[in-house]
Amino acid sequence: MSVAVAASRPAHVPDDRVIDFDVNAPLGPGGDFHQAWHKLVADTPHKLMWTDRNGGHWIVTDGPLLHQLFDRPEVLSNRILFIPRDVSQHHKLVPTTLDPPEHTPYRTLLNRALSPRTVRMIHDNIAAVSAELIDGFVARGTCDFIADYSSQFPIRIFMALVGLPQTDAAMLKYCCDAMVRANPDLPFTHASDMLAAYLAPVVRQRRQSPGDDLLSVLLVGEIDGATMTDTRALQLAMQVLIAGLDTVVNMLGFVWYYLATHPEAQAALADVSKRADMVEEIIRRFPGVTIARLALSDIEVDDVVIRADDVVAMPTMVHGLDPSVHSCPMELDFTRRAPAHSTFGNGPHRCPGAHLARTEILISLDQWFARIPRFAYDGDAPPVVHGGIVGTLESLPLRWDA
Ligand code: HEM
Repeated sequence: MSVAVAASRPAHVPDDRVIDFDVNAPLGPGGDFHQAWHKLVADTPHKLMWTDRNGGHWIVTDGPLLHQLFDRPEVLSNRILFIPRDVSQHHKLVPTTLDPPEHTPYRTLLNRALSPRTVRMIHDNIAAVSAELIDGFVARGTCDFIADYSSQFPIRIFMALVGLPQTDAAMLKYCCDAMVRANPDLPFTHASDMLAAYLAPVVRQRRQSPGDDLLSVLLVGEIDGATMTDTRALQLAMQVLIAGLDTVVNMLGFVWYYLATHPEAQAALADVSKRADMVEEIIRRFPGVTIARLALSDIEVDDVVIRADDVVAMPTMVHGLDPSVHSCPMELDFTRRAPAHSTFGNGPHRCPGAHLARTEILISLDQWFARIPRFAYDGDAPPVVHGGIVGTLESLPLRWDA
């Protein structure tokens, strides 16, 4: 990702709104990703700031404002979905880069395909995948949580969901990874073509003889009264797969690092009867996604004007970690009830996978604590963390008494 500094700052940006902040690299080496975002919100005197980094753009630094702006698609478009805009403008994901009303019928299908009912139907499959992965290393007393569990979990769920052999999971993950993080050995377009070639026959088969699985429900739907084209059906299937991969992996990584270094949080989670309620606080505390919007017209916000064609960074971290919304927001505090956050966004693009994500987190906790009730971090230094559209932990060594 480029970190180009804007050649000249637009005249409508007041000097007191300017900070030096790279949204794709919010911390130095060894830094704490969430602490960096919390500090930005806590230290910034205004709700909307400007940075010259990455071509120059606004950054929302206030939780409630972020939540409101997510719900203004008539003035803030998804056409530029992430920073920097010169990379984002080449991405044409469906329906993520569409605005209402074009976006709406795709969204209706996604809502149905990822509904609580569909997720309930696949609950046992997800639990079986989680159990199998943990059973693979529990006797060892150590694991790399990212390599051995969290990075494999969502792809294996997808394989189980669509009835594909688990032996293909590694190859499919290799393609998907190259589409979210640059891989010199497998360029983006190559990876995308490989993934499309693998999924196309599956999509065709599900459309010819649909079952009640997630993919069938999604792909037999109509758009404005007409059958979806094969190309759009494939693009939608790929979007669901890719959107569900990086997000859950990274949240689980941050959560397990916190738990490994906070025995009192492990003790609290030992209470199975309260665990489901605790998941919402986990989701508040560990947001990870930074997306963007493109202003379609001039909008006055927090006493400044965002001009048409300006880009606005929308870091989901600034809501759950806002000290004006939550006291001691960096603490995982299970006494909070329905804590406010924008971890899944808000408005028309609000994550349709939120229910699946919650289920995956809860199942991971259930299966893990049933086998490994106490565990600790096994590294000499804090794990290496990267920023980006989704914050990432490189690896997470853990140990326990086997
Ligand atoms: C902890 C896990 C997750 C987080 C933090 C997360 C976060 C988000 C956010 C913030 C958005 C809004 C994007 C925008 O406003 O432009 C989004 C959209 C989306 N998410 Fe998730 N997500 C997660 C898991 C999932 C899962 C498991 C799936 C499905 C398999 C999924 C599928 C999608 C899709 C398809 C969209 C695009 C929706 C649209 O454009 O209307 N997500 N997600």
